[in-house]
Amino acid sequence: MSNPSILILPGDGIGPEVMTQVRRIIDWFGEKRGLVFDVSEDLVGGAAYDAHGTPLTDETMAKAQAVDAVLLGAVGGPKYDVLDFSVKPERGLLRLRKEMDLYANLRPAQCFDALADFSSLKTEVVSGLDIVIVRELTSGIYFGEPRGIIEEGNERVGINTQRYTESEIDRVARSAFELAMRRDKKLCSMEKANVMESGVLWRQVVTEVGKDYPEVELTHMYADAGAMQLTRWPKQFDVIVTDNLFGDMLSDLAAMLTGSLGMLPSASLGAPMANGRPKALYEPVHGSAPDIAGQGKANPIACILSFAMALRYSFDAGEEADRLEASIETVLAEGLRTPDLLGEEGVAPVTTEGMGDAILAALEASL
Ligand code: NAI
Ligand code: MG
Repeated sequence: MSNPSILILPGDGIGPEVMTQVRRIIDWFGEKRGLVFDVSEDLVGGAAYDAHGTPLTDETMAKAQAVDAVLLGAVGGPKYDVLDFSVKPERGLLRLRKEMDLYANLRPAQCFDALADFSSLKTEVVSGLDIVIVRELTSGIYFGEPRGIIEEGNERVGINTQRYTESEIDRVARSAFELAMRRDKKLCSMEKANVMESGVLWRQVVTEVGKDYPEVELTHMYADAGAMQLTRWPKQFDVIVTDNLFGDMLSDLAAMLTGSLGMLPSASLGAPMANGRPKALYEPVHGSAPDIAGQGKANPIACILSFAMALRYSFDAGEEADRLEASIETVLAEGLRTPDLLGEEGVAPVTTEGMGDAILAALEASL
């Protein structure tokens, strides 16, 4: 059998800087854990525009469709602000998500104990927190028709439509139940069934899918109540599944419970491929951070944690993902901090590469 394959798309700004550290970690798993990947690398975003006049070539798109997992850094930057909308760096990322049909966006909110003080919430509320929000990513109000701004009588009317088909709800619900099965077997579905018909259907379909997962304890919550519960006592949750709009807000809210943008990974999953693995794109939540690009200040942990998610969800290597996350916990406990993780007190920060070095040393020590 051939090795599992990864396509790396570093992108722009700090994307290539953090991805350099991820590549070292991928190589380490190959050398020390026998997890050998076929790794290829290509351009996306502004970097692809500079080379080819398009933020994603057809060849790169075809490669992304063929590999087991795509790992992306970040795209965009002020240099490209003048470009026409059709060739903006972000279009490369949107094309990947759309053509790979990545409908389940997984956003973990995981609190590393060493950073619990960093949260705006009380330490006891966030320490040990480990939840995942599954956001439907390809349908709902951001895509529904009719939409637009029309004239009605003597005023303008802005229109967007929340529309969900049964099959769209079914497939994202299945992704969430599968995830819950690998975790604490607890799933909370959030919508507004009290005021939205699409929410009534959402609740019905999720309940029906739940019959295929009798081991998972399914609960339902109105999304506004969910926002309150997430800030009051987030540890009551394990996996949350919700639609595109509520998921956009709730995943940002949940992510900030744990601190810095430089720590947040994500996965976007689609339908299972012939080999049973889901189509998958892993990327940090942050952007290309032009304000710190090229200065060795970027925190590589968000991108490294995205690779840990790939180990877990694309490569059935959950124990190795645990090892990687534990190594990150270790270096944070030792006090290593990139500038974004520094509080008031004057600890000297480490560079992007310094953080990579320390994580590799912790991995080595874990053997
Ligand atoms: P951003 O996420 O790039 O940066 C926001 C702030 O967080 C900045 O102060 C930055 O220095 C800091 N930051 C972000 N990642 C960090 C890291 N790993 N370590 C330390 N500090 C970090 O968002 P912004 O500034 O709104 O956008 C910059 C560019 O990135 C724009 O062109 C935007 O379109 C693009 N972008 C791309 C995304 C993607 O590729 N998925 C997502 C968000 C923005
Ligand atoms: Mg958002």
